[in-house]
Amino acid sequence: MSTESPPTGEPLLIVEDLDVEYRAKRSRTPFRAVEGANLQIRPGETLGLVGESGSGKTTIGRAILGLAPVSKGRIVFAGADISHANRRARQALSRDLQVVFQDPYSSLNPSMTVGDILAEPLATAGTDRRRARARVAELLDQVGLPADTASRLPREFSGGQRQRVAIARALALDPRLIVCDEPVSALDLSTQARILDLLLRIQLETGVSYLFVSHDLDVVRHISHRVAVIYRGRIVEQGDADQVTENPEHPYTRRLLMASPVIDPDRQAERRRARRALAPTATATATTTTTN
Ligand SMILES: Nc1ncnc2c1ncn2[C@@H]1O[C@H](COP(=O)(O)OP(=O)(O)O)[C@@H](O)[C@H]1O
Ligand SMILES: [Mg+2]
Repeated sequence: MSTESPPTGEPLLIVEDLDVEYRAKRSRTPFRAVEGANLQIRPGETLGLVGESGSGKTTIGRAILGLAPVSKGRIVFAGADISHANRRARQALSRDLQVVFQDPYSSLNPSMTVGDILAEPLATAGTDRRRARARVAELLDQVGLPADTASRLPREFSGGQRQRVAIARALALDPRLIVCDEPVSALDLSTQARILDLLLRIQLETGVSYLFVSHDLDVVRHISHRVAVIYRGRIVEQGDADQVTENPEHPYTRRLLMASPVIDPDRQAERRRARRALAPTATATATTTTTN
């Protein structure tokens, strides 16, 4: 849990009965990647969205960002229905609604300095150059990078440092919600922990909300106030983070819990045994493949 008391108040984001369908290449029937999803996120709150690969996590994040089509239901952000927001409305929304992707190697323009990468959203929003430079310094400090980082290129940095740059870029315009799509999944375990701590600290400082998407229940537990579990496009369980990750009701969540990578080998062996007992046929494919 990221804070002692879970945030209260009106939801900042409401996802209501959401369906997302992709047009299939060789078939007339579209593929329904998400079906009947209901989610809410309050100001200052982290909702973890967890499920195995292909379950529809990224699709929900993309629908919120206007990058995947809403076929049914609606998405309400700060009181406004944004389900079918046009380009101009999206442009305005991008101040409040930001994203951090999994891959810090492909998400930063390799030919731009870190300073220019961070100044870009500020320039688009009309910030003058002097103030933008001051804001860039502030952002670097906020994500724990030295000031001289601004003049360097992304390739000069490690994965964890690049993810700090991506987080700084997301923070540039003081967003209210950041969709974090597997933001630590490409990083080694100790770097994961440091980036998660950074996200927690930023939330305490700024009151930003996160939709935190991950296939890893351990990671989600560490950062979330509440957790939603998605399986084959449907939310199968949702609730308080401790409750869902320690005492799950749905058999799928239990299996996910058993499969989540842990560092302690004894705990891991214990989980493997428990998983075998729970899902005797699923063990062959579910052996701990750590994808970090
Ligand atoms: N642009 C797309 N067109 C067609 N199918 C897609 C597209 N994006 C994702 N899918 C399919 O939707 C399902 C959910 O994908 P995704 O949301 O990326 O899952 P996750 O992020 O949980 O791994 C998968 O079966 C995937 O193959
Ligand atoms: Mg994904």
